[in-house]
Amino acid sequence: MIQAHRLTKRFGSFTAIAEVSFRVEEGEIVGFLGPNGAGKSTTMRILGGVFPPTAGYARVAGYDVVDDSLRARQAIGYFPERVALYTDMTVREYLGYVADMKHVPAKEQAREIARVMDRCGVTHMGHRLIGTLSKGYRQRVGIAQALLGQPKVLILDEPTAGLDPEQVTEVRKLIRELRGHSTVILSTHILPEVEATCDRVLIINQGRLLAVDTPRNLNRRLRQLSQIHVEAQAPLVSLLETLRQIDGVVRVEATHTDHNVVAVTVLTDPTKDLRGVIAERVVRQGWPLLEIRPVQLSLEDIFLELVHRPDEVSVNPGG
Ligand SMILES: Nc1ncnc2c1ncn2[C@@H]1O[C@H](COP(=O)(O)OP(=O)(O)OP(=O)(O)O)[C@@H](O)[C@H]1O
Ligand SMILES: [Mg+2]
Repeated sequence: MIQAHRLTKRFGSFTAIAEVSFRVEEGEIVGFLGPNGAGKSTTMRILGGVFPPTAGYARVAGYDVVDDSLRARQAIGYFPERVALYTDMTVREYLGYVADMKHVPAKEQAREIARVMDRCGVTHMGHRLIGTLSKGYRQRVGIAQALLGQPKVLILDEPTAGLDPEQVTEVRKLIRELRGHSTVILSTHILPEVEATCDRVLIINQGRLLAVDTPRNLNRRLRQLSQIHVEAQAPLVSLLETLRQIDGVVRVEATHTDHNVVAVTVLTDPTKDLRGVIAERVVRQGWPLLEIRPVQLSLEDIFLELVHRPDEVSVNPGG
C-alpha cells in the first residue's frame, strides 16, 4: 500500500534522508520511530506529496507520489507536523472546507463530517471557532480532517505530540480503531507509542533506516542482548580491562564509582551466560565481588543501542 524505494532528500548540501526503503502492507499500522531531526517528517512529506524526493521514488496505493501526485494524494489522509488550521472558522466549517478540497460528494458531506467528528470526539465542538480550541482539541480536528473521505492511507506525523496523558490514550485508541479500515504510518519519538499501537516499527536515525521489525521482535532482540551488572571493590581501569578481555563481552561501561566500590554494566553475547566467567576473573584478581546480576533491557535501551552501535545489533530488513 505504501512503497518507498531508496528515498533520498537533500536540502542544498545537507542530506536529510538517504536511501530509505520500506513497504507498508494494506491494513498495517506502522510506526516511524526516531529522535529529533532523524528524517521522519521529511519522509512523510514526500509520501504526502508536499515535496518530491531528490532521488528514489514512493508509491501510495499504487500511485507514484510525484508522477501521479493527484491520485496519490486522493488516497491519502495527511496529518502534518504543523497543522495549518483556519483559526477563524468553526470546526464544522473547516471540515466542510477540507471535504470540498478532497472532493467528498456534496450530498455525502454532512454524514461524512459527522462521522469523523464522532470518531475524533469533537462533535460537541462543531460550532466552536478553531482559534478558541485547546491544543488537544485542535489535534483531534487535525486528525478528523485526515480521516475525511475515508482515505486508504493515513500519514500521521506525531499525532500525539503535545497532548496530555489522557488525550494521548484517546488518540492511541482512535488509531487502533482504524486497524482494518486504513493503512497507517505514524511517526513518534516515543517508544511506548509504537508498542501501544503499531504492527511494525521503522527505526530511523540521521536520515538512515536502522531497523524494520515488529515491536515483539525488537523486544526479543533486546532480550538477546544480555546485560550484567557487576559491583566489585576494584580499581576501575583494571576492572574494565579485565572484563573487556573476556570472550563474548561486547562492551563494558562504568555506571557508578564510590570510593573503592565500582559498578559496571557488561553487555554480552546473548548466547552465552558469562556470569560465572566474570565472577571467576574478578575474584582471581583478588577483588572482592559484591554483586553480579543480569539486567533486563528496555526498548529504550535497544533503541539507543541501534542508534549508537548499529553494527553490533543484527538488523533484519523485513517487510
Ligand atoms: N526545508 C528544509 N531545509 C533544510 N533542512 C531541512 C528542511 N526540512 C528538514 N530539514 C532538516 O532535515 C533533517 C530531518 O528533519 P525532519 O523534520 O525530517 O526530522 P524529524 O525526524 O521529523 O524530527 P522531529 O522528531 O524533530 O520532528 C533535520 O536535520 C532538519 O533540520
Ligand atoms: Mg518531525
